[in-house]
Amino acid sequence: MSEPAGFVREVKGDKVSFFLNKGTDLSFGQIVRVDSGNRSFYARVVDAGSSSTLKTDEQLREAEGKESFGPYSSYRHVDAILFLEKEVGKIRSPTFNPDYMDKVYTATDEDCSVLRLAGELEIGRLRSGKHVLGPVGISVEAIPLMMGMFGMTGCGKTNCELMLNARIIDSSPRTVGLIFDFAGQLLEGKGIAPQRGLRDHPLFHTKIRYYSAREQKMLVGLYTIRPQKLSTLFPDITHHQVRLAQKLYKSLGNTWIEQLQEAYSINGHKGVAELTDYKGKAVIDALMLKLSSLSPHLFPPSDYSFVDDVVQNVGQGVTCLVDISGLSSEEQYDVTCLTASSVALHYKRLWESDFNAWKKLPTLLITLEEAHEFLDPNMPKTIFSDIALTYRKYRVGLNAVTPRPSRINPNVFAELWTKVVMKTELRRDRVYLTGNTPYLEYSDTEVKMLDVGEALLISEPKIRFAVPIKVIHYPEYIDERGEVDYKLSASKPLSEMDERLKKLREAGKTNL
Ligand SMILES: Nc1ncnc2c1ncn2[C@@H]1O[C@H](COP(=O)(O)OP(=O)(O)OP(=O)(O)O)[C@@H](O)[C@H]1O
Ligand SMILES: [Mg+2]
Repeated sequence: MSEPAGFVREVKGDKVSFFLNKGTDLSFGQIVRVDSGNRSFYARVVDAGSSSTLKTDEQLREAEGKESFGPYSSYRHVDAILFLEKEVGKIRSPTFNPDYMDKVYTATDEDCSVLRLAGELEIGRLRSGKHVLGPVGISVEAIPLMMGMFGMTGCGKTNCELMLNARIIDSSPRTVGLIFDFAGQLLEGKGIAPQRGLRDHPLFHTKIRYYSAREQKMLVGLYTIRPQKLSTLFPDITHHQVRLAQKLYKSLGNTWIEQLQEAYSINGHKGVAELTDYKGKAVIDALMLKLSSLSPHLFPPSDYSFVDDVVQNVGQGVTCLVDISGLSSEEQYDVTCLTASSVALHYKRLWESDFNAWKKLPTLLITLEEAHEFLDPNMPKTIFSDIALTYRKYRVGLNAVTPRPSRINPNVFAELWTKVVMKTELRRDRVYLTGNTPYLEYSDTEVKMLDVGEALLISEPKIRFAVPIKVIHYPEYIDERGEVDYKLSASKPLSEMDERLKKLREAGKTNL
Protein backbone atom coordinates (compact mmCIF):
# COMPACT_ATOMS: atom_id res chain seq x y z
CA MET A 1 0.00 0.00 0.00
CA SER A 2 1.45 3.38 -0.94
CA GLU A 3 1.74 6.34 1.45
CA PRO A 4 -1.29 8.66 1.52
CA ALA A 5 -0.91 12.00 -0.27
CA GLY A 6 -3.20 13.75 2.19
CA PHE A 7 -6.52 13.66 4.03
CA VAL A 8 -9.95 15.09 3.42
CA ARG A 9 -10.65 18.46 4.98
CA GLU A 10 -14.09 19.26 3.55
CA VAL A 11 -16.55 17.72 1.09
CA LYS A 12 -19.46 19.40 -0.67
CA GLY A 13 -21.40 17.67 -3.45
CA ASP A 14 -18.86 16.34 -5.94
CA LYS A 15 -16.06 18.60 -4.68
CA VAL A 16 -13.50 17.21 -2.24
CA SER A 17 -10.95 19.47 -0.54
CA PHE A 18 -7.98 17.84 1.09
CA PHE A 19 -4.77 18.83 2.86
CA LEU A 20 -1.66 17.73 1.07
CA ASN A 21 1.05 16.01 3.10
CA LYS A 22 4.43 17.74 3.15
CA GLY A 23 6.79 16.51 0.44
CA THR A 24 3.99 15.18 -1.77
CA ASP A 25 3.84 16.32 -5.38
CA LEU A 26 0.59 16.67 -7.33
CA SER A 27 -0.36 18.38 -10.55
CA PHE A 28 -3.51 19.84 -12.10
CA GLY A 29 -5.66 17.14 -13.65
CA GLN A 30 -4.01 14.31 -11.73
CA ILE A 31 -6.25 11.44 -10.64
CA VAL A 32 -6.45 10.68 -6.91
CA ARG A 33 -8.24 7.96 -4.98
CA VAL A 34 -10.04 8.60 -1.72
CA ASP A 35 -10.60 5.49 0.41
CA SER A 36 -13.79 5.81 2.41
CA GLY A 37 -14.93 2.77 4.39
CA ASN A 38 -15.59 -0.05 1.92
CA ARG A 39 -15.81 2.39 -1.00
CA SER A 40 -13.16 4.17 -3.02
CA PHE A 41 -13.79 7.38 -4.87
CA TYR A 42 -11.78 8.65 -7.82
CA ALA A 43 -11.36 12.38 -8.35
CA ARG A 44 -9.40 14.77 -10.56
CA VAL A 45 -7.38 17.64 -9.12
CA VAL A 46 -8.81 20.95 -10.32
CA ASP A 47 -7.42 23.55 -7.94
CA ALA A 48 -4.81 24.03 -5.24
CA GLY A 49 -3.57 26.72 -2.89
CA SER A 50 -1.37 27.26 0.11
CA SER A 51 -1.94 29.27 3.28
CA SER A 52 -1.16 29.47 6.98
CA THR A 53 -3.19 29.65 10.16
CA LEU A 54 -1.89 33.20 10.81
CA LYS A 55 -4.01 36.26 10.08
CA THR A 56 -2.87 38.57 7.25
CA ASP A 57 -1.41 41.30 9.54
CA GLU A 58 0.48 38.66 11.52
CA GLN A 59 1.85 37.17 8.30
CA LEU A 60 3.03 40.62 7.18
CA ARG A 61 4.77 41.41 10.45
CA GLU A 62 6.43 38.00 10.46
CA ALA A 63 7.54 38.41 6.81
CA GLU A 64 9.03 41.85 7.55
CA GLY A 65 10.88 40.38 10.55
CA LYS A 66 9.21 42.84 12.95
CA GLU A 67 7.72 40.21 15.16
CA SER A 68 7.80 36.47 15.41
CA PHE A 69 4.69 34.47 16.14
CA GLY A 70 4.43 31.36 18.22
CA PRO A 71 3.83 27.93 16.69
CA TYR A 72 1.56 28.10 13.67
CA SER A 73 0.84 25.81 10.71
CA SER A 74 1.27 26.43 7.03
CA TYR A 75 -0.55 24.07 4.70
CA ARG A 76 -1.34 23.24 1.12
CA HIS A 77 -4.88 22.38 0.15
CA VAL A 78 -6.16 20.79 -3.00
CA ASP A 79 -9.62 20.68 -4.59
CA ALA A 80 -10.65 17.65 -6.61
CA ILE A 81 -13.86 16.72 -8.42
CA LEU A 82 -15.30 13.22 -7.99
CA PHE A 83 -16.01 11.21 -11.12
CA LEU A 84 -16.18 7.54 -10.14
CA GLU A 85 -17.00 5.32 -7.24
CA LYS A 86 -15.89 1.73 -6.62
CA GLU A 87 -17.62 -0.58 -4.19
CA VAL A 88 -16.68 -4.29 -4.00
CA GLY A 89 -15.32 -4.30 -7.52
CA LYS A 90 -18.34 -2.45 -8.97
CA ILE A 91 -17.65 0.80 -10.77
CA ARG A 92 -20.18 3.56 -11.28
CA SER A 93 -20.71 7.30 -11.17
CA PRO A 94 -20.52 8.53 -7.58
CA THR A 95 -23.67 7.90 -5.57
CA PHE A 96 -22.27 9.62 -2.48
CA ASN A 97 -19.07 11.33 -1.37
CA PRO A 98 -16.12 10.73 0.97
CA ASP A 99 -16.00 11.65 4.62
CA TYR A 100 -13.96 14.10 6.70
CA MET A 101 -10.41 12.78 7.37
CA ASP A 102 -10.60 10.02 4.73
CA LYS A 103 -7.17 9.33 3.26
CA VAL A 104 -6.24 10.42 -0.26
CA TYR A 105 -3.79 8.51 -2.49
CA THR A 106 -2.29 9.22 -5.92
CA ALA A 107 -3.45 6.78 -8.61
CA THR A 108 -1.43 3.61 -9.08
CA ASP A 109 -1.22 0.99 -11.85
CA GLU A 110 -3.89 -0.98 -10.03
CA ASP A 111 -6.23 2.02 -10.10
CA CYS A 112 -5.49 2.36 -13.80
CA SER A 113 -6.93 -1.12 -14.41
CA VAL A 114 -9.94 -0.34 -12.19
CA LEU A 115 -10.66 2.71 -14.35
CA ARG A 116 -10.87 0.43 -17.43
CA LEU A 117 -9.06 2.73 -19.79
CA ALA A 118 -7.42 0.12 -21.98
CA GLY A 119 -9.51 0.21 -25.19
CA GLU A 120 -8.21 -1.89 -28.12
CA LEU A 121 -6.81 1.06 -30.03
CA GLU A 122 -4.13 2.06 -27.54
CA ILE A 123 -2.91 5.61 -28.11
CA GLY A 124 -1.27 6.56 -24.85
CA ARG A 125 -0.65 5.97 -21.17
CA LEU A 126 -2.30 7.43 -18.11
CA ARG A 127 -0.38 10.43 -16.76
CA SER A 128 -0.07 10.74 -13.02
CA GLY A 129 2.08 13.73 -12.10
CA LYS A 130 5.47 13.17 -13.66
CA HIS A 131 4.87 9.43 -14.11
CA VAL A 132 3.03 7.45 -16.73
CA LEU A 133 0.95 4.46 -15.69
CA GLY A 134 -1.00 1.81 -17.64
CA PRO A 135 -2.24 1.89 -21.25
CA VAL A 136 -5.15 4.05 -22.38
CA GLY A 137 -7.03 3.36 -25.60
CA ILE A 138 -10.15 4.04 -27.60
CA SER A 139 -12.44 1.08 -28.18
CA VAL A 140 -13.44 0.01 -31.69
CA GLU A 141 -17.11 0.61 -30.82
CA ALA A 142 -16.24 4.28 -30.21
CA ILE A 143 -15.17 4.82 -33.85
CA PRO A 144 -18.65 5.27 -35.34
CA LEU A 145 -19.59 7.46 -32.40
CA MET A 146 -17.36 10.09 -34.04
CA MET A 147 -14.29 11.78 -32.68
CA GLY A 148 -12.17 14.91 -32.75
CA MET A 149 -8.58 15.92 -32.01
CA PHE A 150 -7.96 19.51 -31.02
CA GLY A 151 -4.89 21.53 -30.16
CA MET A 152 -2.73 24.40 -31.30
CA THR A 153 0.13 24.14 -33.80
CA GLY A 154 2.89 21.79 -32.70
CA CYS A 155 0.99 20.19 -29.80
CA GLY A 156 1.12 16.69 -31.33
CA LYS A 157 -2.11 16.21 -33.33
CA THR A 158 -0.43 14.60 -36.34
CA ASN A 159 1.51 12.23 -34.09
CA CYS A 160 -1.73 11.22 -32.38
CA GLU A 161 -3.44 10.64 -35.75
CA LEU A 162 -0.53 8.46 -36.82
CA MET A 163 -0.77 6.44 -33.61
CA LEU A 164 -4.51 5.91 -33.87
CA ASN A 165 -4.34 4.95 -37.54
CA ALA A 166 -1.43 2.60 -36.86
CA ARG A 167 -3.65 0.78 -34.35
CA ILE A 168 -6.49 0.75 -36.86
CA ILE A 169 -4.13 -0.84 -39.40
CA ASP A 170 -2.99 -3.37 -36.79
CA SER A 171 -6.63 -4.31 -36.13
CA SER A 172 -7.49 -4.78 -39.83
CA PRO A 173 -9.79 -6.24 -41.16
CA ARG A 174 -11.92 -5.38 -38.12
CA THR A 175 -11.11 -1.70 -38.66
CA VAL A 176 -9.92 0.45 -41.55
CA GLY A 177 -8.89 4.06 -42.08
CA LEU A 178 -9.41 6.65 -44.78
CA ILE A 179 -7.00 9.53 -44.25
CA PHE A 180 -6.93 12.87 -46.03
CA ASP A 181 -3.46 14.32 -45.80
CA PHE A 182 -3.48 18.02 -46.65
CA ALA A 183 0.18 18.69 -45.93
CA GLY A 184 1.63 15.48 -47.42
CA GLN A 185 3.14 14.56 -44.06
CA LEU A 186 1.87 11.16 -43.13
CA LEU A 187 3.57 8.87 -45.65
CA GLU A 188 7.07 9.81 -44.56
CA GLY A 189 6.24 11.45 -41.25
CA LYS A 190 7.49 14.91 -42.25
CA GLY A 191 7.53 17.18 -39.20
CA ILE A 192 7.72 14.23 -36.80
CA ALA A 193 11.13 13.89 -35.21
CA PRO A 194 12.71 11.33 -35.62
CA GLN A 195 11.01 11.01 -38.98
CA ARG A 196 8.69 8.01 -39.15
CA GLY A 197 5.54 7.77 -41.25
CA LEU A 198 2.98 5.22 -42.37
CA ARG A 199 5.56 3.95 -44.88
CA ASP A 200 7.54 2.64 -41.93
CA HIS A 201 4.62 0.61 -40.61
CA PRO A 202 5.43 -3.10 -40.99
CA LEU A 203 2.08 -3.70 -42.71
CA PHE A 204 2.58 -0.88 -45.24
CA HIS A 205 2.73 -3.16 -48.27
CA THR A 206 -0.33 -5.20 -47.44
CA LYS A 207 -2.66 -3.00 -45.41
CA ILE A 208 -2.04 0.53 -46.67
CA ARG A 209 -2.63 2.07 -50.08
CA TYR A 210 -1.17 5.47 -50.92
CA TYR A 211 -2.73 7.83 -53.45
CA SER A 212 -1.00 11.02 -54.42
CA ALA A 213 -1.84 13.76 -56.88
CA ARG A 214 1.85 13.92 -57.80
CA GLU A 215 2.00 10.36 -59.04
CA GLN A 216 -1.01 10.87 -61.30
CA LYS A 217 -2.85 8.24 -59.33
CA MET A 218 -5.54 10.63 -58.29
CA LEU A 219 -7.80 11.00 -61.30
CA VAL A 220 -11.56 11.21 -61.25
CA GLY A 221 -12.86 10.44 -64.73
CA LEU A 222 -15.41 13.00 -65.85
CA TYR A 223 -17.65 10.17 -67.11
CA THR A 224 -18.02 8.88 -63.56
CA ILE A 225 -19.66 12.10 -62.33
CA ARG A 226 -23.43 11.71 -62.18
CA PRO A 227 -25.90 14.49 -61.33
CA GLN A 228 -26.46 13.10 -57.83
CA LYS A 229 -22.77 13.75 -57.06
CA LEU A 230 -23.14 17.45 -57.79
CA SER A 231 -24.46 18.36 -54.37
CA THR A 232 -21.35 16.78 -52.82
CA LEU A 233 -19.06 18.82 -55.04
CA PHE A 234 -21.13 22.00 -54.89
CA PRO A 235 -23.05 22.19 -51.61
CA ASP A 236 -24.65 25.48 -52.72
CA ILE A 237 -26.21 23.97 -55.88
CA THR A 238 -29.93 24.72 -56.21
CA HIS A 239 -32.75 22.32 -56.81
CA HIS A 240 -33.36 23.77 -60.30
CA GLN A 241 -29.75 23.25 -61.32
CA VAL A 242 -29.84 19.60 -60.18
CA ARG A 243 -33.09 19.04 -62.10
CA LEU A 244 -31.54 20.50 -65.23
CA ALA A 245 -28.42 18.35 -64.79
CA GLN A 246 -30.59 15.22 -64.43
CA LYS A 247 -32.45 16.05 -67.61
CA LEU A 248 -29.23 16.62 -69.53
CA TYR A 249 -27.65 13.45 -68.18
CA LYS A 250 -30.69 11.46 -69.23
CA SER A 251 -30.46 12.63 -72.81
CA LEU A 252 -26.65 12.85 -73.20
CA GLY A 253 -25.43 9.85 -71.16
CA ASN A 254 -22.07 9.44 -69.42
CA THR A 255 -20.24 12.04 -71.49
CA TRP A 256 -22.79 14.72 -70.54
CA ILE A 257 -20.35 17.09 -68.81
CA GLU A 258 -17.87 16.96 -71.68
CA GLN A 259 -20.60 17.64 -74.25
CA LEU A 260 -22.01 20.49 -72.20
CA GLN A 261 -18.62 22.10 -71.69
CA GLU A 262 -18.05 22.00 -75.44
CA ALA A 263 -21.48 23.37 -76.32
CA TYR A 264 -21.16 26.12 -73.71
CA SER A 265 -17.69 27.17 -74.86
CA ILE A 266 -18.92 27.54 -78.46
CA ASN A 267 -22.36 29.01 -78.01
CA GLY A 268 -22.76 30.04 -74.37
CA HIS A 269 -26.08 29.27 -72.69
CA LYS A 270 -27.79 28.91 -76.08
CA GLY A 271 -25.51 25.99 -76.93
CA VAL A 272 -26.72 24.20 -73.81
CA ALA A 273 -30.35 25.22 -74.32
CA GLU A 274 -30.30 23.51 -77.71
CA LEU A 275 -29.60 20.19 -76.01
CA THR A 276 -32.72 20.36 -73.85
CA ASP A 277 -36.15 21.86 -73.76
CA TYR A 278 -35.16 24.01 -70.78
CA LYS A 279 -34.28 27.58 -71.75
CA GLY A 280 -33.71 29.49 -68.46
CA LYS A 281 -30.45 31.41 -68.94
CA ALA A 282 -29.75 32.02 -65.23
CA VAL A 283 -30.00 28.35 -64.26
CA ILE A 284 -27.93 27.20 -67.26
CA ASP A 285 -25.22 29.78 -66.58
CA ALA A 286 -25.10 28.87 -62.88
CA LEU A 287 -24.84 25.14 -63.60
CA MET A 288 -22.21 25.65 -66.29
CA LEU A 289 -20.16 27.90 -64.01
CA LYS A 290 -19.96 24.97 -61.63
CA LEU A 291 -19.23 22.33 -64.27
CA SER A 292 -16.51 24.46 -65.86
CA SER A 293 -14.79 24.84 -62.48
CA LEU A 294 -13.95 21.09 -62.47
CA SER A 295 -10.21 21.08 -63.02
CA PRO A 296 -9.12 19.19 -66.17
CA HIS A 297 -6.05 17.61 -64.43
CA LEU A 298 -8.19 16.07 -61.78
CA PHE A 299 -11.24 15.34 -63.93
CA PRO A 300 -9.96 14.09 -67.32
CA PRO A 301 -12.46 12.73 -69.86
CA SER A 302 -12.32 9.06 -68.90
CA ASP A 303 -14.13 6.22 -67.14
CA TYR A 304 -11.48 5.56 -64.51
CA SER A 305 -11.85 6.99 -61.05
CA PHE A 306 -9.41 6.38 -58.20
CA VAL A 307 -12.39 6.73 -55.86
CA ASP A 308 -13.68 3.31 -56.96
CA ASP A 309 -10.32 1.85 -56.05
CA VAL A 310 -10.52 3.51 -52.61
CA VAL A 311 -14.02 2.13 -52.03
CA GLN A 312 -12.84 -1.36 -52.90
CA ASN A 313 -9.72 -1.19 -50.72
CA VAL A 314 -11.56 0.21 -47.73
CA GLY A 315 -14.10 -2.61 -48.00
CA GLN A 316 -11.23 -5.11 -47.77
CA GLY A 317 -9.63 -3.52 -44.74
CA VAL A 318 -6.85 -1.71 -46.61
CA THR A 319 -6.34 1.75 -45.13
CA CYS A 320 -6.21 4.47 -47.80
CA LEU A 321 -3.92 7.46 -47.41
CA VAL A 322 -5.04 10.19 -49.79
CA ASP A 323 -2.27 12.78 -50.13
CA ILE A 324 -3.85 15.96 -51.47
CA SER A 325 -0.88 18.26 -50.91
CA GLY A 326 0.04 20.28 -53.97
CA LEU A 327 -3.57 20.61 -55.13
CA SER A 328 -5.42 23.92 -55.12
CA SER A 329 -7.81 24.34 -52.21
CA GLU A 330 -10.77 23.88 -54.56
CA GLU A 331 -9.35 20.62 -55.88
CA GLN A 332 -8.64 19.48 -52.32
CA TYR A 333 -12.25 20.18 -51.45
CA ASP A 334 -13.50 18.22 -54.47
CA VAL A 335 -11.31 15.20 -53.80
CA THR A 336 -12.07 14.94 -50.08
CA CYS A 337 -15.82 15.39 -50.45
CA LEU A 338 -16.14 13.04 -53.43
CA THR A 339 -14.05 10.29 -51.87
CA ALA A 340 -15.63 10.48 -48.44
CA SER A 341 -19.15 10.55 -49.86
CA SER A 342 -18.54 7.58 -52.18
CA VAL A 343 -17.07 5.46 -49.39
CA ALA A 344 -19.75 6.44 -46.87
CA LEU A 345 -22.48 5.81 -49.41
CA HIS A 346 -21.06 2.38 -50.12
CA TYR A 347 -21.51 1.51 -46.42
CA LYS A 348 -25.02 2.94 -46.39
CA ARG A 349 -26.11 1.14 -49.57
CA LEU A 350 -24.83 -2.22 -48.36
CA TRP A 351 -26.59 -1.72 -45.03
CA GLU A 352 -29.82 -1.16 -46.92
CA SER A 353 -29.44 -3.79 -49.63
CA ASP A 354 -27.26 -6.61 -48.26
CA PHE A 355 -27.05 -6.51 -44.49
CA ASN A 356 -24.88 -9.64 -44.23
CA ALA A 357 -22.31 -8.18 -46.61
CA TRP A 358 -22.41 -4.94 -44.63
CA LYS A 359 -21.65 -6.85 -41.41
CA LYS A 360 -18.38 -8.03 -42.96
CA LEU A 361 -17.22 -4.47 -43.71
CA PRO A 362 -14.49 -3.13 -41.44
CA THR A 363 -15.47 -0.32 -39.08
CA LEU A 364 -14.26 2.83 -40.83
CA LEU A 365 -12.60 5.94 -39.44
CA ILE A 366 -12.22 8.91 -41.77
CA THR A 367 -9.44 11.24 -40.59
CA LEU A 368 -9.95 14.81 -41.71
CA GLU A 369 -7.37 17.47 -40.89
CA GLU A 370 -8.40 21.11 -41.31
CA ALA A 371 -11.85 19.93 -40.26
CA HIS A 372 -12.97 23.50 -39.52
CA GLU A 373 -12.91 24.19 -43.26
CA PHE A 374 -15.59 21.53 -43.77
CA LEU A 375 -17.68 21.90 -40.64
CA ASP A 376 -17.96 25.67 -40.33
CA PRO A 377 -21.51 26.67 -39.31
CA ASN A 378 -21.33 29.72 -41.60
CA MET A 379 -20.63 27.65 -44.70
CA PRO A 380 -22.95 25.39 -46.68
CA LYS A 381 -23.34 21.92 -45.21
CA THR A 382 -20.86 19.30 -46.48
CA ILE A 383 -20.79 15.52 -46.62
CA PHE A 384 -18.71 15.56 -43.43
CA SER A 385 -21.43 17.13 -41.30
CA ASP A 386 -23.80 14.61 -42.81
CA ILE A 387 -21.48 11.75 -41.84
CA ALA A 388 -21.05 13.09 -38.30
CA LEU A 389 -24.78 13.48 -37.82
CA THR A 390 -26.22 10.43 -39.54
CA TYR A 391 -23.68 7.71 -40.35
CA ARG A 392 -23.13 6.12 -36.94
CA LYS A 393 -25.43 3.22 -37.63
CA TYR A 394 -23.48 2.32 -40.77
CA ARG A 395 -20.20 2.07 -38.76
CA VAL A 396 -18.63 5.04 -40.51
CA GLY A 397 -16.82 7.37 -38.12
CA LEU A 398 -15.27 10.79 -38.61
CA ASN A 399 -12.16 12.05 -36.84
CA ALA A 400 -12.28 15.84 -37.12
CA VAL A 401 -8.79 17.23 -36.49
CA THR A 402 -8.35 20.96 -36.10
CA PRO A 403 -6.48 23.65 -34.19
CA ARG A 404 -9.66 25.78 -34.24
CA PRO A 405 -12.45 23.85 -32.50
CA SER A 406 -14.52 26.98 -32.02
CA ARG A 407 -15.06 27.04 -35.79
CA ILE A 408 -16.82 23.69 -35.77
CA ASN A 409 -20.57 23.68 -35.99
CA PRO A 410 -21.84 23.13 -32.39
CA ASN A 411 -24.37 20.50 -33.53
CA VAL A 412 -21.59 18.47 -35.09
CA PHE A 413 -19.28 19.09 -32.14
CA ALA A 414 -21.88 17.68 -29.77
CA GLU A 415 -21.90 14.44 -31.77
CA LEU A 416 -18.16 13.82 -31.35
CA TRP A 417 -18.24 11.36 -28.46
CA THR A 418 -14.50 10.84 -28.33
CA LYS A 419 -12.35 13.91 -27.88
CA VAL A 420 -8.60 14.18 -27.63
CA VAL A 421 -7.94 17.66 -26.27
CA MET A 422 -4.35 18.85 -26.53
CA LYS A 423 -2.69 22.13 -25.56
CA THR A 424 -4.89 25.07 -26.56
CA GLU A 425 -3.89 28.62 -25.71
CA LEU A 426 -6.42 30.67 -27.60
CA ARG A 427 -9.07 31.64 -25.09
CA ARG A 428 -11.92 31.43 -27.52
CA ASP A 429 -11.10 27.84 -28.42
CA ARG A 430 -10.58 26.87 -24.79
CA VAL A 431 -13.91 28.34 -23.75
CA TYR A 432 -15.58 26.47 -26.60
CA LEU A 433 -13.89 23.18 -25.72
CA THR A 434 -14.58 23.31 -22.00
CA GLY A 435 -18.08 24.73 -22.45
CA ASN A 436 -19.21 22.15 -25.00
CA THR A 437 -17.57 18.98 -23.70
CA PRO A 438 -18.98 17.06 -20.77
CA TYR A 439 -16.45 16.46 -17.94
CA LEU A 440 -14.21 19.33 -19.08
CA GLU A 441 -15.92 22.16 -17.23
CA TYR A 442 -13.12 22.49 -14.65
CA SER A 443 -10.21 21.95 -17.04
CA ASP A 444 -9.74 25.38 -18.58
CA THR A 445 -6.34 26.10 -16.98
CA GLU A 446 -5.16 22.56 -17.52
CA VAL A 447 -5.87 22.66 -21.28
CA LYS A 448 -3.67 25.75 -21.53
CA MET A 449 -0.80 24.13 -19.64
CA LEU A 450 -0.54 20.76 -21.40
CA ASP A 451 2.85 19.85 -22.85
CA VAL A 452 3.60 18.46 -26.35
CA GLY A 453 2.04 15.00 -26.69
CA GLU A 454 -0.07 15.38 -23.54
CA ALA A 455 -3.83 15.28 -23.85
CA LEU A 456 -7.12 14.85 -22.08
CA LEU A 457 -9.16 12.00 -23.48
CA ILE A 458 -12.91 11.56 -23.18
CA SER A 459 -14.47 8.62 -25.00
CA GLU A 460 -18.10 8.07 -24.21
CA PRO A 461 -19.73 5.79 -23.30
CA LYS A 462 -16.70 3.86 -21.97
CA ILE A 463 -14.58 6.72 -20.62
CA ARG A 464 -16.84 9.23 -18.92
CA PHE A 465 -14.30 11.61 -17.49
CA ALA A 466 -11.30 13.50 -18.79
CA VAL A 467 -8.35 11.10 -18.61
CA PRO A 468 -4.95 12.79 -18.59
CA ILE A 469 -2.78 10.88 -21.06
CA LYS A 470 0.63 11.01 -22.66
CA VAL A 471 0.23 10.02 -26.30
CA ILE A 472 2.70 7.38 -27.48
CA HIS A 473 5.34 8.91 -29.76
CA TYR A 474 4.80 7.28 -33.15
CA PRO A 475 8.54 6.87 -33.93
CA GLU A 476 8.98 4.94 -30.66
CA TYR A 477 6.02 2.73 -31.47
CA ILE A 478 7.41 1.97 -34.94
CA ASP A 479 10.89 1.23 -33.67
CA GLU A 480 9.52 -1.19 -31.08
CA ARG A 481 6.89 -2.67 -33.40
CA GLY A 482 9.46 -3.29 -36.15
CA GLU A 483 11.47 -5.58 -33.91
CA VAL A 484 8.44 -7.59 -32.90
CA ASP A 485 7.22 -8.15 -36.41
CA TYR A 486 10.11 -10.18 -37.77
CA LYS A 487 8.93 -12.97 -35.48
CA LEU A 488 12.50 -13.91 -34.57
CA SER A 489 12.84 -15.65 -31.26
CA ALA A 490 13.91 -13.17 -28.61
CA SER A 491 17.59 -13.17 -27.79
CA LYS A 492 18.54 -14.24 -24.26
CA PRO A 493 18.92 -11.39 -21.82
CA LEU A 494 22.48 -10.20 -21.37
CA SER A 495 22.50 -11.09 -17.68
CA GLU A 496 21.69 -14.71 -18.56
CA MET A 497 24.43 -14.79 -21.19
CA ASP A 498 26.89 -13.30 -18.71
CA GLU A 499 25.95 -16.05 -16.30
CA ARG A 500 26.65 -18.74 -18.90
CA LEU A 501 29.94 -17.13 -19.91
CA LYS A 502 30.94 -16.98 -16.26
CA LYS A 503 30.18 -20.69 -15.85
CA LEU A 504 32.15 -21.53 -19.01
CA ARG A 505 35.09 -19.46 -17.80
CA GLU A 506 34.99 -21.16 -14.41
CA ALA A 507 34.76 -24.56 -16.07
CA GLY A 508 37.76 -23.57 -18.21
CA LYS A 509 39.76 -22.59 -15.11
CA THR A 510 39.04 -25.84 -13.23
CA ASN A 511 40.03 -27.84 -16.31
CA LEU A 512 43.40 -26.14 -16.50
N1 LIG B 1 3.56 12.16 -27.77
C1 LIG B 1 4.67 12.76 -28.18
N2 LIG B 1 5.85 12.50 -27.57
C2 LIG B 1 6.99 13.10 -27.98
N3 LIG B 1 7.04 14.00 -28.98
C3 LIG B 1 5.93 14.32 -29.62
C4 LIG B 1 4.67 13.72 -29.26
N4 LIG B 1 3.72 14.20 -30.07
C5 LIG B 1 4.34 15.05 -30.91
N5 LIG B 1 5.64 15.13 -30.66
C6 LIG B 1 6.64 15.94 -31.41
O1 LIG B 1 6.16 17.27 -31.47
C7 LIG B 1 6.36 17.82 -32.77
C8 LIG B 1 5.02 18.34 -33.32
O2 LIG B 1 4.12 17.26 -33.44
P1 LIG B 1 2.95 17.22 -34.53
O3 LIG B 1 3.47 17.47 -35.88
O4 LIG B 1 2.23 15.95 -34.28
O5 LIG B 1 2.08 18.46 -34.05
P2 LIG B 1 0.76 19.07 -34.74
O6 LIG B 1 -0.17 19.40 -33.66
O7 LIG B 1 0.28 18.15 -35.80
O8 LIG B 1 1.31 20.39 -35.38
P3 LIG B 1 0.64 21.24 -36.61
O9 LIG B 1 -0.53 21.95 -36.03
O10 LIG B 1 1.73 22.15 -36.99
O11 LIG B 1 0.27 20.27 -37.66
C9 LIG B 1 6.99 16.71 -33.60
O12 LIG B 1 8.38 16.93 -33.68
C10 LIG B 1 6.69 15.45 -32.86
O13 LIG B 1 7.71 14.47 -33.04
MG1 LIG C 1 -0.12 18.37 -37.84
